[in-house]
Amino acid sequence: MTTFDQVSDTASEQSTSGAATKWPRYLDATLGFDNHWHPAAFGHELGEGEFLSVTLLGDKVLLTRANGVVKAIADSCAHRGVPFSKDPLCFKAGTVSCWYHGWTYDLEDGQLVDVLTSPGSPVIGQISIKVYPVQEAKGLIFVFVGTEEAHALSEDLPPGFLDEDTHSLGIRRTVQSNWRLGVENGFDTTHIFLHRNSALIESNRLALPYGFVPADRDAMQVFDDGWPKGVLDRLADNYMPVFEAKFDGETVFAANLTGEEKKVAAQISVWVPGVLKVDPFPDPTLIQYEFYVPITETQHEYFQVLQRKISSPGDAEAFAVEFEETWVPDALHAFNDDDVWAREAQQNFYGERDGWNNEQLFPPDLCIVKWRMVASDRARGVRSARGAKA
Ligand code: FES
Ligand SMILES: [Fe+2]
Repeated sequence: MTTFDQVSDTASEQSTSGAATKWPRYLDATLGFDNHWHPAAFGHELGEGEFLSVTLLGDKVLLTRANGVVKAIADSCAHRGVPFSKDPLCFKAGTVSCWYHGWTYDLEDGQLVDVLTSPGSPVIGQISIKVYPVQEAKGLIFVFVGTEEAHALSEDLPPGFLDEDTHSLGIRRTVQSNWRLGVENGFDTTHIFLHRNSALIESNRLALPYGFVPADRDAMQVFDDGWPKGVLDRLADNYMPVFEAKFDGETVFAANLTGEEKKVAAQISVWVPGVLKVDPFPDPTLIQYEFYVPITETQHEYFQVLQRKISSPGDAEAFAVEFEETWVPDALHAFNDDDVWAREAQQNFYGERDGWNNEQLFPPDLCIVKWRMVASDRARGVRSARGAKA
């Protein structure tokens, strides 16, 4: 188990020698973790016969829905490489035809099944494009990115995410930072200081501290045997919350607590390949999940999902109204917009100024260190602009 002293050692090693890192594969994973499931879009974004193009870990992928089932193929024609998504054509459900010279592919296996401009062409049946395994669950379309055979989706999701009695709703947007800054921002126990002026704390009467002082430094739980693999931090049990921020002994910020405030974020966990679970948040009746899917080395798609236990269709409808009226504007935007600009503000240091070797960590960053180590040791594959490796 990692101790605080080791974190300090690691921090100083990091600043003196870039090669002597304890998370080498994590540093290599500029485009994320290969051979894992990643969310690509929300199911409601893709109607029957529609097309949607997304970029996952640098791969341009075309999604479509044929007979209700989502298919995913490489968004690049085998003939001359143009993206189908410029003007996707479909003359028969389950196929896509290229707008340039009419090469037509079966979406099931990616086989070239006809060429509209050259009947009986000898290339028919001889060429195929990559198809990606797809699964739709909890309102999200997940795509398996990699070359290995796809494993069960549940292995790449936080425990509880697929529970049957839950309903999930969410939004997504593109953030201008590397994906790792997204995961680390979400899991960072002292970043909450950033949210000190958030209107959500007042409007939803939350007890949200500025930071946490660890009471039991070794209490973080690492799950690295089976799948999913991740790190769980029990904020409610193992930390003293800081509700009064002091500088030089003088209080500079203080939460106006009455004792009636709702308690949130009792547990926070992060899972390979890069999924956060905040339980509960932004209300005791909700769990927030966040996915940070690499697009390029300097961009990620930020999926924000709220989940609630429901027992009837009426519960789901009421949740949908509350989601649109309250949680999207007050939590997923107003509150989390702070996280978005924080990551974007951090990108220059990690992207341009070798932040991975120049950062100076402090003891509360232990949570980030543990995540990096688990991810580095255990992720199934690593992607960078140079390609994929084990
Ligand atoms: S580039 Fe697609 S058919 Fe020619
Ligand atoms: Fe945050």
